[in-house]
Amino acid sequence: MKNLCIGFIGAGNMANSLINGLLGQGIEPESIVASDIDNSKTERLRRESGIRTASNQALVDEVDVIVLAVKPQILARLCQDISLHSRRKLVISVAAGITLAKMESWLGSDTAIIRCMPNTPASVGKGVSGMIANANTSKSQRALATDLLTAVGIAVWVDNEREIDAVTAISGSGPAYYFLFLEAMQEAAREIGLPDDTAKILCLQTAIGACELANSSCDSFGELRREVTSPGGTTEQAIMQFESGGLRELVQKAITAACDRSKQLAKG
Ligand SMILES: NC(=O)c1ccc[n+]([C@@H]2O[C@H](COP(=O)([O-])OP(=O)(O)OC[C@H]3O[C@@H](n4cnc5c(N)ncnc54)[C@H](OP(=O)(O)O)[C@@H]3O)[C@@H](O)[C@H]2O)c1
Repeated sequence: MKNLCIGFIGAGNMANSLINGLLGQGIEPESIVASDIDNSKTERLRRESGIRTASNQALVDEVDVIVLAVKPQILARLCQDISLHSRRKLVISVAAGITLAKMESWLGSDTAIIRCMPNTPASVGKGVSGMIANANTSKSQRALATDLLTAVGIAVWVDNEREIDAVTAISGSGPAYYFLFLEAMQEAAREIGLPDDTAKILCLQTAIGACELANSSCDSFGELRREVTSPGGTTEQAIMQFESGGLRELVQKAITAACDRSKQLAKG
């Protein structure tokens, strides 16, 4: 990625996560440019991280890789605005639900486009992104996108664009599911008598520890769970409540709803 200039259009949550992750990996701030309709957001980024800011048009003219990080509903208009200038550049869209075909129709059918679904833990180098490229994208552009996204976590290429809706539902939206569970656990800890700060440490470190253990183990998630669940013990009581309360069905329902929403966004 040396000598490469990366531009982010839309300087909101996702762009901030990616930019902070890239800077954390030692990418030079001068090689990152951001634009946003709201100048205060780009100004803050410039002040806090030293990256450069520009208008959408100036950014498109200057950079080698354009990352489209605006809300899906904004993308059609934005792509039409930049279409004449973005050709021969690699365009990476992180917008949920917007297909490669749609972006080709807005940007020009000869544009190299990668549809990517990252997530916000990219800001601490722990993101995961699912990606798919259109036929105009060269091998070296795919390698470049892999480098860009592996700088902020793990990048996975999918073979079929339909899988991106599932990636969106699992890992794109996924951090929020874990935050919700942490919130619920912290509330429960309060109910059973723990002070908030102690509850926070216990909930957080338990999540980190469980994930690191799972990551370093060959056992399935189910086997790891059974290892903690002694018959007649305390964990078994909690697991029985989760199972009889329909946790698995609820998770299935929630993730299907997120996946359906991603498909719906594609229809416009
Ligand atoms: N957040 C996540 O966890 C996550 C995960 C994966 C993928 N994504 C995708 O990432 C994209 C951005 O999401 P986000 O959460 O970062 O949204 P966000 O925080 O709202 O950021 C989008 C930014 O784009 C700005 N904007 C709107 N129109 C613009 C234009 N024409 N030119 C330049 N900037 C413009 C918005 O300004 P205003 O607020 O003033 O409109 C806002 O600052 C979405 O497509 C989403 O699907 C997000």
